Amino acid sequence: MKNFSFIIVAGGKGSRFGTKKQFMKLGDKSLWQWSADSAAELKDSGVNEIILVIPKDSDKNEILWNSPLPFKIIHGGDTRSESVLNGLNTASCEYVLIHDAARPFADKNLFLRLMNATDENSGAIPVLPVADALKKIDGENISIVNRDGLFVTQTPQSFPREKLIEAVKLNLSAKDEAESWLSAGHKLKSVEGNKMNFKITWTEDMATARALAEKNFPRSQTRTGLGYDVHQLVPERKLILGGIEIKDSPLGLLGHSDADLLTHAVMDSILGAAGLDDIGNIFPASDEKFRIADSIELLKEVLKLVKNSGWRVDFVDAVVEAQVPRLNKYREEIKKNFEKFFDINIKFKSAENLNDSGRGLSMTCWACATLSRE
Ligand code: CTP
Ligand code: MG
Repeated sequence: MKNFSFIIVAGGKGSRFGTKKQFMKLGDKSLWQWSADSAAELKDSGVNEIILVIPKDSDKNEILWNSPLPFKIIHGGDTRSESVLNGLNTASCEYVLIHDAARPFADKNLFLRLMNATDENSGAIPVLPVADALKKIDGENISIVNRDGLFVTQTPQSFPREKLIEAVKLNLSAKDEAESWLSAGHKLKSVEGNKMNFKITWTEDMATARALAEKNFPRSQTRTGLGYDVHQLVPERKLILGGIEIKDSPLGLLGHSDADLLTHAVMDSILGAAGLDDIGNIFPASDEKFRIADSIELLKEVLKLVKNSGWRVDFVDAVVEAQVPRLNKYREEIKKNFEKFFDINIKFKSAENLNDSGRGLSMTCWACATLSRE
């Protein structure tokens, strides 16, 4: 049997996505872990080790995964080819599979097709025919591109390791390994790719991935929980919501800790669904630790408690009632901060000058969490 090192390239910045997408949660695990679990499934088919390439400014200690195969975490480089090269130099098997962490849905048969097609002289890549009509746009000028014979390339890509090292070194700005391989004059085979195996590139791709993950890997036994918090708005306090400082607010929330009422309500909704005590009891205000706390750090504690009780957070829906300041422009940034941990929806409502929140004296927040059994 041919032996393969499985290299997961997760060293990118996610500049089109807006954050390091490889560490975002998809379902119950980080995006990169979908590929790691696929690699683990190939344990008896020739994959002997897994190498995860993370951004050079990311902390290796934050990667937690119980691997059934030898597992190495290394730092990548500025370009994809540099990240791949670091992976290749760490790998020890005769052959390599290189796979984007940004493609969570590559299926086992696709890996097997590629592994079979690869030999000491030939690499293999998955391709799909271009389905849409193509145009080339150059400023105002639009011209036709004939799509006959054109294919899009996916990963995983499969090669003999040592020859690929030489090929990748020749051009460190190649778009993928197939480009380096072909430029070096080597033989390449194509196998049929898989439409499900799309790459998460833009923010909206995550919604498609979430829908697919939910459809194909449904959860069982779910519970919901409700959280609530209210704080007074006062001058000379920072306004922190969901761990993000709302810089242009003249008022901030009064309270122990950072008074981040959104994170507080979210934590209580999660704890409620897990049947655990609320934050007031877990982090009493009398405790100095809570007085000065960053609420996002407390959220991490809550998530550990919930996980230890056998639950995982699927989704949180939250609504913040605030007359001032206007918060909608911060919505995406706040959402992204939570989406490191779970999927969330956040809405802001003014209170029509009717109650204390409506008169700008306070803010109120409700959150509803859905949890399922681990
Ligand atoms: N990648 C990498 N090292 C780099 C650049 C990219 O390991 N220096 C990885 C990414 O983490 C991703 C895969 O290559 O899993 C495909 O790249 P892409 O989708 O372009 O991701 P990013 O480079 O992170 O995104 P962007 O190009 O939008 O910055
Ligand atoms: Mg990129």
